[in-house]
Amino acid sequence: MGHHLIPAHGGHLIQRLATPQQAKEFLQQTERTPALTLSERSLSDLELIAIGGFSPLTGFMGASDYRAVVDTMHLDNGLAWSIPITLPVTAAVAENVKLDTLVRLNDAQGQAIGVLALQEIFTYDKEAEAQKVYRTTEAAHPGVQVIYQQGDHYLAGDVWLLERRPHPLFPAYQIDPLDSRQKFQERGWRTVVGFQTRNPIHRAHEYIQKCALEVVDGLFLHPLVGATKSDDVPANVRMRCYEIMLEHYYPGDRVILAINPAAMRYAGPREAIFHALVRKNYGCTHFIVGRDHAGVGSYYGTYDAQYIFAEFTPDELGIIPLMFEHAFYCKRTGGMATTKTSPSSPEERIHLSGTKVREMLRRGELPPPEFSRPEVAAELARAMQIPGS
Ligand code: ADX
Repeated sequence: MGHHLIPAHGGHLIQRLATPQQAKEFLQQTERTPALTLSERSLSDLELIAIGGFSPLTGFMGASDYRAVVDTMHLDNGLAWSIPITLPVTAAVAENVKLDTLVRLNDAQGQAIGVLALQEIFTYDKEAEAQKVYRTTEAAHPGVQVIYQQGDHYLAGDVWLLERRPHPLFPAYQIDPLDSRQKFQERGWRTVVGFQTRNPIHRAHEYIQKCALEVVDGLFLHPLVGATKSDDVPANVRMRCYEIMLEHYYPGDRVILAINPAAMRYAGPREAIFHALVRKNYGCTHFIVGRDHAGVGSYYGTYDAQYIFAEFTPDELGIIPLMFEHAFYCKRTGGMATTKTSPSSPEERIHLSGTKVREMLRRGELPPPEFSRPEVAAELARAMQIPGS
């Protein structure tokens, strides 16, 4: 029968989903106290903690874990962890909540989504967090901007999600860690490579995914659908592109497409470690790290997100990074390649940046088939409402 799955980070998969009875009690207990309205990112964090995507975290970080993570990329107990998961609030909100009580957590529509057992309130140094986590204090960096705009206090404590609701846009692709693990086992996959992405799929993505799939049993396509910066392509368009690709270009029995409800932080190297650990919690044994993973602008070197893996022992991460060089279409060899596999000169290589593709689509031009599969190019053009597409 079934083989052993890779353990979750820290040893076991965390579940913080309230039973219907618990949810009722939590709502009663928080009836008369002020509720917090969570940002889109905090809602994503709450959800990921609850479904075990952030195992071993059981709530928003307290000061000792926060400082250890920011300073050393490890939790206070020594476990590797590279991104602080915190709940920022303003001073006014911090004054209005009581330690050692349950705090109701609402979405922007005022609907109760979860509760926090408030254990600690602490202040933090925004510039220090920016510098250490994002390697810059520039407010133009979209991740740093969030820090500067958020409240000055962090609330910490264990959380519960009141109910697991289907995703409003992608219910069929809401595959939580328990489910993905079960699916991997059902398919008999011993090795599974996870793929993080926030951009529409192009041929370099396809190439590195398929190179990876040549050496493992299954491919877990895991596009991020939480908050992204405003000029990134919306998740519904990206998911449609993936459906098109699966229909035409992938073997169905080797690939699972699922949404990652996380918010994008654009923390480059540190986020690559974090992305890998989250995919380990979903049951992946391997994780793809290509060029400028989770990067933005020119804040990180092309391969910084690969170099950072050398700062950890393989054991402390427990998931194997598969690293890929910058891939392009090579006119000399007539296929996708990297400088590792092709002797081409720079003029013989076709690679386009996301910005360039967006500009082309805006001008009404379709990206060439060397960059994007025609069906995907057509879908992108349609989504950008270009006449005649
Ligand atoms: S990311 O912010 O999620 O990293 P994106 O969706 O563009 O952005 O990238 C998904 C993954 O593909 C990342 O691991 C990234 O490094 C990799 N990648 C993107 N483009 C290329 C490319 N041309 N060559 C090699 N790897 C790439």
